[in-house]
Amino acid sequence: MSAPVELRRLTTPQDLFQAAAEEVIRDATNAVAQRGRFTIALSGGSTPKNLYTLIAANASANLPWDRMFFFWGDERHVSPDDPDSNYRMAKESFLSKVAIPAGNIFPVPAENPDAPAAAEAYEQTLRRFFALAPGEFPRFDLILLGMGPDGHTASLFPETAALQEKSRLVVANWVEKLQTSRITFTLPVLNAARCVAFLVSGTDKAAVLHEVLEGNAPAEKYPSKLVRPSDGRLIWFVDRAAASGLSAAA
Ligand code: 6PG
Repeated sequence: MSAPVELRRLTTPQDLFQAAAEEVIRDATNAVAQRGRFTIALSGGSTPKNLYTLIAANASANLPWDRMFFFWGDERHVSPDDPDSNYRMAKESFLSKVAIPAGNIFPVPAENPDAPAAAEAYEQTLRRFFALAPGEFPRFDLILLGMGPDGHTASLFPETAALQEKSRLVVANWVEKLQTSRITFTLPVLNAARCVAFLVSGTDKAAVLHEVLEGNAPAEKYPSKLVRPSDGRLIWFVDRAAASGLSAAA
């Protein structure tokens, strides 16, 4: 049963990152205490970089890093040392600064020139790590997501094939407007999570945030609308600028 959507309205971007960092730390602590490990899928883009920096600076001492396992909800089809790599951004801002065993970090093999093969390999990584039965989806403790001005999330862009995927865990998704493939979790993986947290900051997201949270356009037009964990929490961390298009009641 879907929990009610949690809208966390923060004032400044820094307040947003602070609130999100507290949520990550709380979820990690609880997951390790209750289940012995914490599984998280990181988001790419620019917004989460400040969150990662904050966590690395404030939490490095008191988290059970050896019981925390890091994945990516999507990746650009580039090598891990490419400036556009989501892995590189997370490694530089966060993972290289805390005591996470290398074996706890699972980058997407996006250096493979064959994007579908890279997606398939990552899917097998998930199947092995979560010991999934056929037809089963991994249940991440936390999936961090951003949202583009077009309403995309992860690499699930409007009018792209990946939106229709119901059985695969990870696919290569051709994005016409970017003229590139992206490697992305599918919606069933996002919606199997214990908790999904969107981080949305800035006035350039105000119009699309209104559409996603309050509009009645078809969900496929704004793929972030399709993210709704079937048995988990959905939290929107938004700052005042991003929330400026929302009704007061939202
Ligand atoms: C990526 C992300 C993507 C991102 C949004 C928002 O690989 O770029 O996964 O979905 O979250 O595009 O990006 P910003 O946070 O940079 O606005």
